[in-house]
Amino acid sequence: MGCAVSGPNVNPDSAITEEKRSPSLEGAPDLKTDLGCGGSEEPQEPLLLSEAQKELIRASWVILHKDIARVGVIVFIRLFETHPECKDAFFLFRDIDDLQQLKMSKELQAHGLRVMSFVEKSVGRLDQTDKLELLAFNLGRSHCRYQAPPKYYEYVGAQFIQAAQPILKEEWTPEVEQAWEALFKYVSATMRRGFSTEAETNAGLESTRNRI
Ligand code: HEM
Repeated sequence: MGCAVSGPNVNPDSAITEEKRSPSLEGAPDLKTDLGCGGSEEPQEPLLLSEAQKELIRASWVILHKDIARVGVIVFIRLFETHPECKDAFFLFRDIDDLQQLKMSKELQAHGLRVMSFVEKSVGRLDQTDKLELLAFNLGRSHCRYQAPPKYYEYVGAQFIQAAQPILKEEWTPEVEQAWEALFKYVSATMRRGFSTEAETNAGLESTRNRI
């Protein structure tokens, strides 16, 4: 998994310069307050999906998949409209203020596709919860390195659901919506744990370094 900033093992303190950080993304993360994180001791959220709900997700994904490039862009444009501070985490987009211009950017399209590819992998692992958990957990770890705070993850799910609705038209039902909501809730909670674990590991390394 890549990072526009400087790769997955990037040190967040050197990756984003102080003047570029927005106040909400600023500084060493205080997990339990600033970032809406409970720490890695948070219990694992179970994946609460019935077999019928998994089928609804798989069937709706077949339709959505044809439009993933569009869905990926819409999700992030809406995220930036509603939570402009999220844009500051993106090295490639943070200086583009015009969202119409950003909508056309190849980089945003590529990023949207990477996120949709994660959704595709998640849909493929609905019956392999251990693999799904690891996938989302590691994504949370990489988002700690990107300085992308957990409090925003659920908004991505909410925007995905809003973008999916007009594409699925009459196939969209409250049951389909609830199924996707449950999946994103699980993914967000697991990413949050990965984020916390990575941040705690980094804090531990930092304190060891300071003692040497
Ligand atoms: C459910 C929520 C989210 C999902 C599923 C998701 C998924 C992804 C994926 C698959 C990548 C590709 C790189 C990788 O695999 O590590 C990525 C990169 C990234 N995400 Fe997210 N993301 C989410 C939320 C967010 C939020 C809320 C932010 C900002 C506050 C964010 C900021 C970033 C940044 C900065 C990168 C690196 C950009 C790049 O490499 O070009 N993400 N995300």
